[in-house]
Amino acid sequence: MILVTGAGGKTGQAVIQALAAAGAAVRALVYRPEQARLAQGLGAQQVVVGDMRDRATVEQAARGVRAVYHICPNVSPYEVDMGQAAITAAQSAPVQHFVYHSVLHPQTEAMPHHWLKLRVEERLFESGLPFTILQPAAYMQNVAAHWDQIVQRGTYAVPYATETRLSLVDLQDVAAVAAIVLSEPAHVGATYELAGTAPLSPNEVAAILSQQLGFPVGAQVVPLDRWEQQARANGLGDYQIATLLEMFRYYERHGLWGNPHVLQWLLGRPPTTLAAAIERWAKGRGPHAVGVG
Ligand SMILES: NC(=O)c1ccc[n+]([C@@H]2O[C@H](COP(=O)([O-])OP(=O)(O)OC[C@H]3O[C@@H](n4cnc5c(N)ncnc54)[C@H](OP(=O)(O)O)[C@@H]3O)[C@@H](O)[C@H]2O)c1
Repeated sequence: MILVTGAGGKTGQAVIQALAAAGAAVRALVYRPEQARLAQGLGAQQVVVGDMRDRATVEQAARGVRAVYHICPNVSPYEVDMGQAAITAAQSAPVQHFVYHSVLHPQTEAMPHHWLKLRVEERLFESGLPFTILQPAAYMQNVAAHWDQIVQRGTYAVPYATETRLSLVDLQDVAAVAAIVLSEPAHVGATYELAGTAPLSPNEVAAILSQQLGFPVGAQVVPLDRWEQQARANGLGDYQIATLLEMFRYYERHGLWGNPHVLQWLLGRPPTTLAAAIERWAKGRGPHAVGVG
């Protein structure tokens, strides 16, 4: 049995699906009771509902499992608390393998949510647990989050300069790697950067969208004050807004890019291209399924 934490989010859903497809038994730790059925529908055999900040909850969820795949909610001020709770629970289970879902370049202090992940990695090194760390680049699915605007207005709008270069990775490739590393003890002790593409600017992303969708799509900058207004209206908290603003500024100054060789080696095939992912979203179940599509 493998415990997947943060299981109700888009990463958790993709990881449950990939593990279930590989024949693994999954116990999902979800936050809200209504996420239980979703997790079961994706293939989780068991579901625990609870708050990952509560150590007793995580300890109970980890009892009897062989491995933990730990996913913290996106841009959480509780990253270190939740990471420590998962590590402590894994120690007392005890598990044979702990896989931490980190991020590309956690060493970047200028992005607080990356920096917190580095602190969790540090605690993992000190925990004595057999660990693997995955450091994914920005998901291609972040592009798909703008699907309605892309399709209806032909614009791909981002809160940073349209020349900013980011490596992207298909979340499905990341989930496939999660299943691979959890099935082979040979990955214990490894830290893998997971980039699927060469660095792409929003201008280049828009050009690929145009080519794949058959109509012109242009990249556009959303001014940060307008982005912030919209984020507040959508209910995003102060910490998330401040952190994401720092991330956008960092992206614009330096970009965020890696190299796809490691992902290709892990998958045993070339990583999914952005063109292929767009084709899949356009042909498949539509924009509402893009989180795991
Ligand atoms: N997006 C990217 O491009 C990218 C790239 C690399 C790495 N990552 C990392 O991937 C991770 C997962 O991102 P995501 O967008 O899939 O996650 P997410 O959807 O933000 O969160 C995962 C799940 O955790 C739940 N949750 C929230 N607070 C909780 C709590 N106190 N206790 C237990 N569960 C709680 C959420 O429930 P609710 O649905 O109720 O909020 C959600 O279902 C993040 O750590 C992120 O940094 C993301």
